[in-house]
Amino acid sequence: MPPLEKISPEIVRADFNDLLAVVHYTRAAHELGLWASERLLVERHLPDRAARILEAGCGAGRVTLGLWALGYRRLTAFDFADELLDQARSLAAERGADTGPEAITFLHADATRLGECQLIVDTTQGAAAGGATIVGQEVRGEAARGTSGLFDGALFMFNGLMQIPGRENRRCALRGLHRACRPGAPLLFTTHDRDHSPAERAMWRLEALRWTRGGQDPRLVEYGDRYFEDEAGRTFMHLPDRAEILADLAATGWQHEFDAMRREVCEESPAVLDFSDECRFWVARAG
Ligand SMILES: C[S@@+](CC[C@H](N)C(=O)[O-])C[C@H]1O[C@@H](n2cnc3c(N)ncnc32)[C@H](O)[C@@H]1O
Repeated sequence: MPPLEKISPEIVRADFNDLLAVVHYTRAAHELGLWASERLLVERHLPDRAARILEAGCGAGRVTLGLWALGYRRLTAFDFADELLDQARSLAAERGADTGPEAITFLHADATRLGECQLIVDTTQGAAAGGATIVGQEVRGEAARGTSGLFDGALFMFNGLMQIPGRENRRCALRGLHRACRPGAPLLFTTHDRDHSPAERAMWRLEALRWTRGGQDPRLVEYGDRYFEDEAGRTFMHLPDRAEILADLAATGWQHEFDAMRREVCEESPAVLDFSDECRFWVARAG
């Protein structure tokens, strides 16, 4: 039997484009909307409704459309899964967020390749309108210099950053988002936490033993990775510990400002608890 393939970005993207995942995230975008904790933290750190916000891994638009409903009008959202992005675009059309100068800008882009790409100000909307295009090619010189620092804040919600296989790739995404933001801009994201409960810690001790003996799932890239199947389809997830994220932020130009488990931020509805596991919220500032 050939060795099992390591999880790659292509596998993750294919899993998100799979019908099961598309239905799962589209339903959440239509019916669930923003979690109470997401709303509270976005409004705390990005209170200005005119803030130019970049959302990475927007999926079917659950967060972006939630922000639109709160009155945010300079939103740019991207994802590398075309099927999810199509759903986000149609939800925006359904909610009247797809036309005029305040339309949400949806882009197809890979978070790990923002460094190679340019955020080009769309001249029909201008930087002031938050219009931007991410193109997958390098633009050098003046044009390149003029494109960074466009955004007042960035989001990578519901653990999307942790669905990037390979620590260096996750750092690459953090660097790309840093480059896209102005100095002082906040970045909000969530992760799981390997240490958040005694049961979790015991489980990871066993997993560490497996890695020491070489008995881990051969598809995994690093210790902390999981690849599993549930009602949302196949999911790759890296579960970090706190020290890992603090080091990654420091290495990519972000200054840690806040982190807390979701249950410490606020109480969520049964529907949100049913949709998503406990996670850790992070807020960092572009240094
Ligand atoms: C758990 S889903 C969350 C979707 C949406 N933000 C939500 O909360 O419903 C994670 C999202 O991150 C996207 N994603 C993962 N890796 C990505 C990458 N390298 N570039 C862009 N998007 C990525 C996936 O396609 C998926 O839509």
